[in-house]
Amino acid sequence: MTVLVFLDPAFFDGRIVDAHVPAIMATDQGVTRGDGIFESLLAVNGVPRKLQAHLDRLAGSARSMQLTLPDADIWKRAIATALTTFVAASPQAPDEHGNTSVLIKLICTRGPEGEETPTAWVAASAVSPVLAAQREKGLDVLLLDRGYESTISSRAPWLLLGAKTLSYAVNMAALRHAHANGGDDVIFISGDGQVLEGPTSSVLLAHVSNDGGKTLKRLITPSLDNGILPGTTQGALFAAAKDAGWELGYGPLEPRDLFDADAVWLISSIRLLAPVNTIDGVEIGTADVRAALTSELSALLAQTH
Ligand SMILES: Cc1ncc(COP(=O)(O)O)c(C=O)c1O
Repeated sequence: MTVLVFLDPAFFDGRIVDAHVPAIMATDQGVTRGDGIFESLLAVNGVPRKLQAHLDRLAGSARSMQLTLPDADIWKRAIATALTTFVAASPQAPDEHGNTSVLIKLICTRGPEGEETPTAWVAASAVSPVLAAQREKGLDVLLLDRGYESTISSRAPWLLLGAKTLSYAVNMAALRHAHANGGDDVIFISGDGQVLEGPTSSVLLAHVSNDGGKTLKRLITPSLDNGILPGTTQGALFAAAKDAGWELGYGPLEPRDLFDADAVWLISSIRLLAPVNTIDGVEIGTADVRAALTSELSALLAQTH
């Protein structure tokens, strides 16, 4: 089930609507043009994680496409309404750590054609069990050409590359392509050969080395200049890993950096840290090292808020 709460000035805590009844105008530009933005975040034990980071990124996406966004407090009240209504109607089973999770989506479109009044709502629903299975079993990933150069984002800001827009049809098509070709997921490569991101995730890699008996651990992610979405989960994990003694690095990265890594992950707010077993059929590191690093970093990620 899904609980929908529309941000509506006439309803202080948001207006709950029946998810089985049409609620959006067919002329809404979010529907007719994909002209809008969204965020997906996880609420654990009733508390939205990294809420401020998601609201900040939503505001950044809105700025980049001159979209007027309701105030953060209005979002927060609608999120609280969606969460409590969903949990009351559909109590979630605790996971192996005793935690319950709910998927929260924030969506804002440019509104119906000719009106220019944004349509904004919050959706609360269950987290797909497929994601826990992917964390557990890992992913087979294909490298796919994203079709633009890594330098394009500053030259062509209208491509909205660092914004989380509703125009995800390309990302979903890339995932379908992977599924049809034996893969679980995708890492996009730019036209000039730089590692970018997944269709719904950031890319992370780790190098572990031994220097005179001291273990050096380095976590690296592609540089944001490449026109990728700034991942809130990658950001939170980097902060926690730094405190735990990891060195941090930012790209540029090329495919061979992925193949040389001790472990590679796709990381995002809902799926969290999913290890990559193979890329284009080539195993990354070893199963033991992948599993050990995944459990170490997952524990760090679980401590972040
Ligand atoms: C294209 C893309 N990159 C990265 C991410 C990861 O972002 P976050 O960690 O904030 O969920 C997402 C999340 O959906 C995404 O769609």
